[in-house]
Amino acid sequence: MNLLIENAKQIVTCHTKGRKYKAGKFQSEIGLIENASIYVENGRIKWLGKKIPASIKKLNIKKIDANNKTVLPGFIDSHTHLVFAGDRANEYSMRIKGSTYEEIAKAWGGIISTVKAVRKAAKIELKKLALRRILSSVSFGVTTIEAKSGYGLDTKTEIKMLEVINELNRESPIDVYSTFLGAHAFPKDKSGSEYIDEILYEMIPLIAKRNLATYIDAFCEKNYFSVSEIKKIFKQGIRFGLVPKLHTNQFYSIGGIKAAVECGAISVDHLEVMNSKDINALRGSDTVACLLPAVSYFLDIPYTPARKLIENKIPVALATDFNPGSAMSENIQLTMSLAVQMLKMNIEETINAVTINAAAALGVSHNTGSIEPGKQGDILIFDTPGYRDIIYHFGVNQLDKVIKRGKVIN
Ligand code: NIG
Ligand code: FE
Repeated sequence: MNLLIENAKQIVTCHTKGRKYKAGKFQSEIGLIENASIYVENGRIKWLGKKIPASIKKLNIKKIDANNKTVLPGFIDSHTHLVFAGDRANEYSMRIKGSTYEEIAKAWGGIISTVKAVRKAAKIELKKLALRRILSSVSFGVTTIEAKSGYGLDTKTEIKMLEVINELNRESPIDVYSTFLGAHAFPKDKSGSEYIDEILYEMIPLIAKRNLATYIDAFCEKNYFSVSEIKKIFKQGIRFGLVPKLHTNQFYSIGGIKAAVECGAISVDHLEVMNSKDINALRGSDTVACLLPAVSYFLDIPYTPARKLIENKIPVALATDFNPGSAMSENIQLTMSLAVQMLKMNIEETINAVTINAAAALGVSHNTGSIEPGKQGDILIFDTPGYRDIIYHFGVNQLDKVIKRGKVIN
C-alpha cells in the first residue's frame, strides 16, 4: 500500500539510531519532528521529512491530511492471553469482597476454570471471540500483538489454541505472534511429572514440527513451575527453535529471572516483586523487562519498581497482559496511563515502552516499533496537538486513524 501522511504537527519517531531497544536515559528520547510528513510505499516507510519532494508530491496515491495532529508508531502489545472462553466475573466479585488471586486459584480454580471453558469451546467459537478482542485492541492503537496458549494444558487443546492464534495472524488486519505457554499451570487430571513429560516430549516437538509458535513461555512461581522445571522446558524449547520468555516474580522472587537470562530469554514479564539479585541478573543482559501494570491495578498487588530498572539501564517494555483472571482489559492506553501514574515512568519512556521496546520484547524491532525509512508502515494518527495529550487527557481514546503496512484499518 502507498500512502502519504502530510503535514503532521508532531511525528514521534521513536528512532532507534540502529539499536535494538532503548535503555537508561536513551529510553526518554522519542525523536520528535514537527511539521513533517511520511511517505509509505508498498507497506514500508520510504521517506520522512519536512519538505515533501516533488517526485512524491506528484504521485496519484492516497493522502491523509494530518494538520494539527500527532503521529506515532503503532503500539505493540507484546504480552496477552487473548484466546479464551468463558469469563471470571464471579472470581472478580470474590476478590472485590476480599479474597486474593491465590486463594481463588485454590478454591475456585482461577486459571483452571478458564481451562475448563477452553477445552469445551469449539475452535470456531474461540476464534470468533479472539478476533473481536483483537479488533478492540486495534481501536486503542495496537498494530502488532502477541497471544499465548496456556488454557489447554493438554496436547489437544494447546494445539487448538495455537491453531486459532495462527489463523488470526493470517485473517486479522494486524500481525499476531504466537507463544506456547503449556507451562501455565498444572492440570488436575495428571501428575506434575507426567504433565512436564507431555510438554517436553509431545507438545514441543509437535508444535515445532507444525510451526505453530515463535516463543515458549512459562509461569515461574511458588505452586506453579519451579526454576529447575523452567530450565528443562526452555532447554527443550530452544532445541526445537522456540525463543524463551518468562512470567516471573509476580508474587515471589524464586530465581526465575536469573534462569531466564541464562537461557537467553528475550523478555521477562511481570516483575512486581524484585530484589537486588534479580536486578543484578538482568543488568547488562539483552533481556527486556516487560511490565504489566494493569495486573497490579486489577489484582491490587504491588507495582513493579520501574525506576530502579531504568536506572540500571534495563530496557523496559509495557504490555496489557489481557486475560480473564488478572487483567481483563485490552486497552493499551490504560496501561500507558498506569505506567505514568503508578510506575512513575515519564511520558517519553512510556511511549518507547509500547513501541520500540515492545518490538524488542518480540525480537521484531528491526521491522516495526519506530517510524524510520525501511520499517513497516505501522502508524497511528491522534487527534491531539501534541504527544503528551495522549496520556495527559486520560481515560479518553483520541485516536483518529490506525494504519497497518500503509493501509488504514481503523
Ligand atoms: O499473566 N500469571 C499468570 N498468568 C496470567 C494470568 C492468567 C489467568 O489468571 O487466567 C498473568 O497474570
Ligand atoms: Fe500473562
